[in-house]
Amino acid sequence: MNKFKILSIFVIVMFLSSCGKSEQKQIQNSSDKTISNNAKDTCDSPDADIDCSFRDMPSDLTNIMIISGPGEPGEKLIITGNIFHSDSITPYKNVIIYAYHTDSTGHYSKKGDETGVRKWQGHLYGWCVTDSNGYYEIHTIKPGRYPSNDFPAHIHPVIKIPGEAKPFYINDFVFKDDSLVNEKYISSLQYPGGTGVVELKRSADGILLGQRNIILPD
Ligand SMILES: [Fe+2]
Repeated sequence: MNKFKILSIFVIVMFLSSCGKSEQKQIQNSSDKTISNNAKDTCDSPDADIDCSFRDMPSDLTNIMIISGPGEPGEKLIITGNIFHSDSITPYKNVIIYAYHTDSTGHYSKKGDETGVRKWQGHLYGWCVTDSNGYYEIHTIKPGRYPSNDFPAHIHPVIKIPGEAKPFYINDFVFKDDSLVNEKYISSLQYPGGTGVVELKRSADGILLGQRNIILPD
């Protein structure tokens, strides 16, 4: 074997070795990226921590929560009420309420660019904070039952008490005229805040109006 052949073999071996390392590095990078993507957003889960509901909350809340815009299909709905301490008398001020619900067809529908918990809770959500009287309002549309039609139409509320670390669910808002709001449903409730059953009346201009006062545990 002459010197030229030996040099050629050496160059080929070095080239193949280099290709192998490059491919190995690409696989490693790809693996790192997958791990990074999986780890980057713990709120992107149907079982996300309840704190995720407050991650993108605006800082300028009022006592009025506006969930749906004027173009949202469905019947307009306004729920009002007061939150009280456990004595049922003292207004609970500065309580943040987060709420989300299905659209009028019963889906947690999305626009397509959602991240985190929004991928799971849809585009109909909002926050408000009770005033000095514990008063709040929720302006939205009436949600539809799930397409499975085996659970009442409902609005999920989460409560965040000022100065307390962990938010918590209270029982859903549901509607008295829903035939699925029955004894079986009431006996299944597991959260504080009363049954959440709201009786709806229609205003002269066609808006559904409901009221719910909420007593929170101390
Ligand atoms: Fe739900």
